[in-house]
Amino acid sequence: MHVLLTEDQELFRRTVREFAEREIAPVAAEHDENETFPKANVKKMGELGLMGLTVPIEYGGSGAGPVEYALAMEEIARADAAHSVILSVNNSLVCEPIVKYGTDEQKNEYLKRLSSGDMIGSFCLSEPQSGSDARHMQTKAVRDGDYYVLNGTKNWISNGGEAGLYIVFASLEGEEDRSAAFLVEYWRFGINCGPKEKKLGIRASATTQVFLNDCRVPVGNRLGEEGDGFKIAMSSLDAGRIGIAAQALGIAQAAFEASVAYAKERQAFGQPISEFQAIQFMLADMQVRIEQSRLLTYQAAVLEARGLPFAKESSMAKLSASETAMWVTTKAIQIHGGYGYSREYPVQRYFRDAKITEIYEGTSEIQRMVIARSILRGDRPAKAPAEVPVEAPEIVTPVLTLPPTPEELKQQMAPRKLHHVAVAVDSVDEALKFYRETLGLEEITVMNLEDRGLKVGLVKAGPSEVELLEPLDPEGTVARFLDRRGPGLHHICFEVEDVETSMRYYEGKGATFIDPVPRPGAVGLVSFMPPALADGVLVELAQTSGYTFPEPEAEAAEEATAPVITTPILRGPAGYARPAFVGAVGAWGQQPTPPAAPEPEAPRSAWSTAADGLRAPVLRGAAGYTRHGLTGVGAWGRQPAKPEAAAPAGAPGTASEPPAASGTGQVASEAAPAAGE
Ligand code: CAA
Repeated sequence: MHVLLTEDQELFRRTVREFAEREIAPVAAEHDENETFPKANVKKMGELGLMGLTVPIEYGGSGAGPVEYALAMEEIARADAAHSVILSVNNSLVCEPIVKYGTDEQKNEYLKRLSSGDMIGSFCLSEPQSGSDARHMQTKAVRDGDYYVLNGTKNWISNGGEAGLYIVFASLEGEEDRSAAFLVEYWRFGINCGPKEKKLGIRASATTQVFLNDCRVPVGNRLGEEGDGFKIAMSSLDAGRIGIAAQALGIAQAAFEASVAYAKERQAFGQPISEFQAIQFMLADMQVRIEQSRLLTYQAAVLEARGLPFAKESSMAKLSASETAMWVTTKAIQIHGGYGYSREYPVQRYFRDAKITEIYEGTSEIQRMVIARSILRGDRPAKAPAEVPVEAPEIVTPVLTLPPTPEELKQQMAPRKLHHVAVAVDSVDEALKFYRETLGLEEITVMNLEDRGLKVGLVKAGPSEVELLEPLDPEGTVARFLDRRGPGLHHICFEVEDVETSMRYYEGKGATFIDPVPRPGAVGLVSFMPPALADGVLVELAQTSGYTFPEPEAEAAEEATAPVITTPILRGPAGYARPAFVGAVGAWGQQPTPPAAPEPEAPRSAWSTAADGLRAPVLRGAAGYTRHGLTGVGAWGRQPAKPEAAAPAGAPGTASEPPAASGTGQVASEAAPAAGE
């Protein structure tokens, strides 16, 4: 653990490193080679909370402080410097000034979008004639009623062409020494960007010119007051320079690690080159310079976090770290020899990327100037614009949650266990007797779920359960299931971590679900896959934790007692007991008459079409279980051909049809599970 960091900050660093190694490092070389802007990863950085790291939580940011910002910059740059400059401009040069100097409207308008990665920010200070001499800008802002009209050209603008919001600095009309800052939206106020500059390094980042031609910006989009422009730019750069120092550190660290690994592996004169003192001294010096710069960088960040003056310290950190990065990457190429000069190896990219850290956000010469001036004037703190109250946001070290890797997702989605096997029965009490008395299994509970038209018995069977389903509602799906199939296997249920996520995951693998979203079941949130998918068995996924059923209203709860069934038990058409038939037939012992007309045809699915012509009575398979739809094909054991493709989940009237449909149009209701199963 680093001496200047807390345990939480180290944890934060590890998470960012894991993210960077997983998402950024593998694509860094390709983006560099093709000079492509890494849009997808910018979005991922936003999702992780890195794009608005220091933005207060109330504005959609992560509420972190300068130390976390430096750590994030270091780790992202260790994977790829181009990614880190996108992050740094968005955070320290765009979000930060809005947090410090923006009005409530401006904060509400922009910070959330900038923090999420939906909108990228850009900082427009440099011009063709003014880079280091930033105070002497040619870009002019002329007040025109409720607007400012901006004219001028900005140079070397990071995120140019990719950003949605540009902070533009401009001199005020007739007052060459006074400037103001403006929040200029690309789409609303009409600014133009030139083509991407062809750069030596950080080639994946976008750098362009920005053209302001009679660009009309409402007064409400001025950041701070008239005359604050230069000070806003300078104080933003104070913080930004810590980020660039951290970026340089990350580049140097990557080059150093590559050098150590290469030196141990590369053989010369009969031994690894790490055995030679010339190499060892280079590695030692590399590490010493990196650690010196790291201390300076963390020191500046800690000072800023404590609200103490840090302008000189941030310049010292940037100067030291950027020159270290240049020196270390030069040595890294030397250690790699010819391979270091090849674009097949990453050290040349580190070397090319390192150079910019000595140039942007103030050249090394400007940093020396800032440090020297500070020494000579006796460390007078730099002034912030007096008229704008600066509220220090509360700082937290965010706990970042990385999205699971495809491998982790696969593991998480795998059913945790067979939760239960559900059996449709005529009488839960009768069936329970068998499980209890004959098999000696332990009964867990019996529930009368009136609202779902079911009586449910649960029996413990090792780590799983047997769920017995008795219909209380003669029109319910279990009753219809019994009508068609007789007592027997109704569905199997697997326990999953999160039903909704599992649904999306399995849909990605071609599965369909009867309902588009989970429904409350007896054991938690559940969702059903149509039997067609599992060759005839309805499959339930259940989330048994993290879901609480809404409390029933007191009055309703009192009313919800099980109905007393007084009618005698009769036999259903397939020879099984159906208490609920009695009311329909009226006389003891009389068999129920089949309905005169078939129920209205349900919309047909691919399955029901395939199963047309199969008018099968319930048959018993070799193992005594019920099988449907076999007679149409002539011989026991032959299955109806599966349709080419299953109907999409949620398509009206399709998803719930079972595989071996009888074609009567009742199949949908047979297979569709009762809510509460
Ligand atoms: N914070 C707040 N106010 C500051 C300040 C700071 N850090 N530094 C200076 N000021 C104020 C001064 O107090 C002074 O105010 P008063 O007039 O009220 O006294 C005013 O600003 C002018 O200050 P100076 O006289 O010191 O200004 P200067 O003209 O001599 O320049 C400089 C100072 C340090 C050279 C400055 O121009 C500078 O830093 N130049 C480099 C610019 C730079 O870094 N450009 C990078 C472009 S952005 C970029 O690279 C982003 C990217 O793409 C990644």
